[in-house]
Amino acid sequence: MSKSLTVRTTLATLVLVPSLLLGCRKESENNTSSTPKPTATSQAAHNEQKKTAEIVTLPPPRHSSDMSVEEAIAKRKSVRHYKNEPLSLQDVSQLLWSTGLNTDAAVDGVSSATRHYPSASATYSFETYLVVGNVQGLESGIYHYDALGHSLVRMKRGDFRHQLTVAILGQRMVEDAPMSLVFAADHTRNKNRSGTRGEVKYLDLLEVGHMGQNVSLQAEALDLGTVVLGSFKDEAVAAIKKLLELENEEPVYIMPVGKEAR
Ligand SMILES: Cc1cc2nc3c(=O)[nH]c(=O)nc-3n(C[C@H](O)[C@H](O)[C@H](O)COP(=O)(O)O)c2cc1C
Repeated sequence: MSKSLTVRTTLATLVLVPSLLLGCRKESENNTSSTPKPTATSQAAHNEQKKTAEIVTLPPPRHSSDMSVEEAIAKRKSVRHYKNEPLSLQDVSQLLWSTGLNTDAAVDGVSSATRHYPSASATYSFETYLVVGNVQGLESGIYHYDALGHSLVRMKRGDFRHQLTVAILGQRMVEDAPMSLVFAADHTRNKNRSGTRGEVKYLDLLEVGHMGQNVSLQAEALDLGTVVLGSFKDEAVAAIKKLLELENEEPVYIMPVGKEAR
């Protein structure tokens, strides 16, 4: 885990600011004020981060629905056109829950927590980021999902959907969707495995497929549409890393989500 991620996660578990406090102020595309990135190495810098980070507690997810898993599988398809309608914070919570902590799993002393998807040796190499432009009750910005706290940590203020579209060389659905999820791998979490770096990456790429499928099926059950975007060039990876201010993580999948425009 990178230092910045450790700080983000620690902050998320320490500080809870109700999402309603943030309101749903509409941001212009050019409003790019940034919460300082938590690259703290000293205690003083760490404390400064605690003061500035904003945490959004997500509403509790549901554990059942009217749609059967068979129906969700049958309906799943790539959706690339979205209505200009906001997502609800409840929907965002539910989508993230599908890749989040499995609170029903037994704590066995080996793995203290498991998630709703499998991971080779339970290393859970991925972090989830949100590029938010049109979600009710959530200010536009870039957020990190803290799976342990089922909360969001705001990293930047502003609507960055256009920048993300440019970063991935013009896949317009990202600009049109109210929000996109970005799954980014920290390949070093698997570094103690005996395999080569290439094998480690291979395992991580298998893992993200499970995450993407969970989100796809969850979106169907919420009557939302999504598509997995993963066909990027190296230059796109570099641009996404820059936009999200990622140090050690490699963005692998982007999933825009919204109401399908039929
Ligand atoms: C690893 C992977 C990467 C993908 N990358 C993209 C992408 O960059 N852009 C896109 O529009 N669709 C992308 N797709 C979606 C496929 O184009 C889509 O799943 C395929 O055309 C089948 O259509 P369906 O999902 O509606 O069944 C990707 C799918 C996978 C599994």
